[in-house]
Amino acid sequence: MDKLVIEGPTKLAGQINVSRAKNAYLPILAGVLLNPHPVHLKNLPDLRDINTIIKLLGNLGVKITKSGNITTFDASNITSYDALYDLVKTMRASILVLGPLLARFKSARVSLPGGCAIGTRPIDIHLENFKKLGALINLEGGYVEAHTDGLKGANLKLSFPSVGATENLMMGAVLAEGVTVIENVALEPEIDDLAYFLKKMGAKIEGIGTSTLTITGVKELKECEYEAIGDRIEGLTYIMAGLITGSNITVAGLNPKHIDQTLTLLKDMGAEFELGEDKVTIKSNKLKAIDVETSPFPGFPTDAQAQLMALTTQVEGKSKISEKIFENRFMHVPELQRLGARITLKGNEALVEGPSKLKGAPIMCTDLRASAALVLAALASHGKTEIHRVYHLDRGYEKLEDKLNALGANIQRVK
Ligand code: UD1
Repeated sequence: MDKLVIEGPTKLAGQINVSRAKNAYLPILAGVLLNPHPVHLKNLPDLRDINTIIKLLGNLGVKITKSGNITTFDASNITSYDALYDLVKTMRASILVLGPLLARFKSARVSLPGGCAIGTRPIDIHLENFKKLGALINLEGGYVEAHTDGLKGANLKLSFPSVGATENLMMGAVLAEGVTVIENVALEPEIDDLAYFLKKMGAKIEGIGTSTLTITGVKELKECEYEAIGDRIEGLTYIMAGLITGSNITVAGLNPKHIDQTLTLLKDMGAEFELGEDKVTIKSNKLKAIDVETSPFPGFPTDAQAQLMALTTQVEGKSKISEKIFENRFMHVPELQRLGARITLKGNEALVEGPSKLKGAPIMCTDLRASAALVLAALASHGKTEIHRVYHLDRGYEKLEDKLNALGANIQRVK
């Protein structure tokens, strides 16, 4: 198993480019199942999660070819409607094939994703609303078995603005007969991106960017080419890498509007930024403590919570970070404590006392974003930090060590 060895503390300088967003491409890749014509996707990031869903598509019969930075998906001849446990267990987003399979083939069998390190993560909102669209759903042997005579438009109201449920239902509704209205949808930029992709294939969707989507079903989609948005979470991770190392770097390849609220939060802590059309430059990095809680977009994202916690260990004063989306998303805390961070946990609240002088130690990744937090902490730690189980990091950060080393970090991957 690979590990990262990081020598710190480090100063960074220059510009770092983010990849296309993993969480935008995962639903888009599921969405290719809706289309009997080829779909060409540009600049897919080379990530474990992306490769997992591509493998799943291949198992279902999708033909995949690559030419330069374009990957083409041909779902004209689907041979199976089964998303098997072995792949779904490694990546929960596999549940997103349910809507497309059901809508186009009237049948789907998808392994129940089960819990994961950060929480139980049920899919009740997905399933109860597919039933309202006319699906018959049975849970058999650890699988969701879904059938329909043809999905029919309906009025849906999500009990919580779940990102995955919004994506799954939107994709189901695209080929459903009639009009589907979905209220209380998630507002994350990746939802808009999926909607624009579906529209480019010929779907009829109104209300993009608002909390109510209206989808008028169409009979068939058409060939298209698409490139997803830049990865806002990767971008925030690198902005925090700049801040934690006291370095005024530029992070490029993302839309600053997608991270507006978090930039405001970092400004409240004392940071200053210069914004370009597709980049953010840190202008000042003198920070003070903050009290923040995670919430659905446009609030502070749970996917940046661990990284912010690493940052607050280096900031003067007592910070309070509350996790409101997932029940078990503080697994980075004991690892940060091993480096010397002073953090107290009280239920879903973490109290961080800063600044602490961090010292390198062997530590372990527990989930994707926790891993990113450990890298940030290691950049600010004195001496050598060994980060184990980096396969978690490889799920969502493309060439992380190459990108940070190009700015002056000292990170080695040991195979
Ligand atoms: C997506 C992101 C993930 C991010 C999360 C929250 C992808 C591939 N993953 O995950 O990185 O952390 O959004 O921004 O885009 N819930 C239910 N029932 C459901 C669905 C969700 O109770 O049917 C709960 C979950 O357990 C969780 C909360 O709702 O507590 C948010 O989940 P959701 O928005 O669905 O997140 P994901 O789509 O799984």
